[in-house]
Amino acid sequence: MLVDGCYQLTTNITFVYIFTLSNIQLNSNKVLITTEDGSHTLYMPDLNENYHSTFGAIQESNHVFIDKGFNGIIKSKKSIQIFEMGFGTGLNALLTLIEAEKQNVFVQYFAIEAYPLEDNILKQLNYGNIIEEGKYEELFNKINNASWEKSDKLSPHFEIKKLNTSILEFVTANKFDLVYFDAFAPEVQPELWTEDIFRKLFSIMNPGGILVTYCCKGIVKRNMKTAGFNIEKLPGPPGKREMLRAQR
Ligand SMILES: C[S@@+](CC[C@H](N)C(=O)[O-])C[C@H]1O[C@@H](n2cnc3c(N)ncnc32)[C@H](O)[C@@H]1O
Repeated sequence: MLVDGCYQLTTNITFVYIFTLSNIQLNSNKVLITTEDGSHTLYMPDLNENYHSTFGAIQESNHVFIDKGFNGIIKSKKSIQIFEMGFGTGLNALLTLIEAEKQNVFVQYFAIEAYPLEDNILKQLNYGNIIEEGKYEELFNKINNASWEKSDKLSPHFEIKKLNTSILEFVTANKFDLVYFDAFAPEVQPELWTEDIFRKLFSIMNPGGILVTYCCKGIVKRNMKTAGFNIEKLPGPPGKREMLRAQR
């Protein structure tokens, strides 16, 4: 089966052949695929959408959320509150835990997810095995096994609370320094990239807080601006020209 991203590679028949061979149909609407940096992502044939970039899932998450988000705000902070819209596979949470340990920062990680992935799908993902030769495998499993709706301190540097809810209904009294906005693309879920949603996020962020996302579409920029954010375009990860960082 050909999946999203293959059109970029049609000149390289061998690669497409190997890429296609390594796909595993997990259920009727999820296919496990290996991206160009060797890390997995999930493809949904019904929506023709991936959870991450096929140019490299770990590469994209590290670039957009860790380098331009986490490292863009951490500076001299000793603790930070992060909100993730779209917990998905737990990859962003794992990379954040690793960075928090490296930078000796305490992270309170708050993530929402409307459609949690089944355990048998999460167990197939290779992030725990391939990052730093498996050093974080146990913590990756702990992130995904952490109970919903309650806080879990998983390491001296990382506490997580996952909520099984939609951003459309979500309310909180918490305030965040950093938002990872990791929804499916605006073409797939236009209702999540609206001025109302960005206003909601603006209202739960601390002054000076930043929001990062992989998307740089005109409509998204306009909606963020109208919601009150100052936005900047930044170079995107490989395979993507630009991404967005918005400041409250
Ligand atoms: C691009 S994927 C996120 C990938 C994820 N951050 C990761 O590291 O694997 C988008 C995620 O948003 C979730 N989602 C979709 N609609 C949502 C909604 N209304 N509220 C919260 N999460 C939603 C999807 O189920 C999916 O897990």
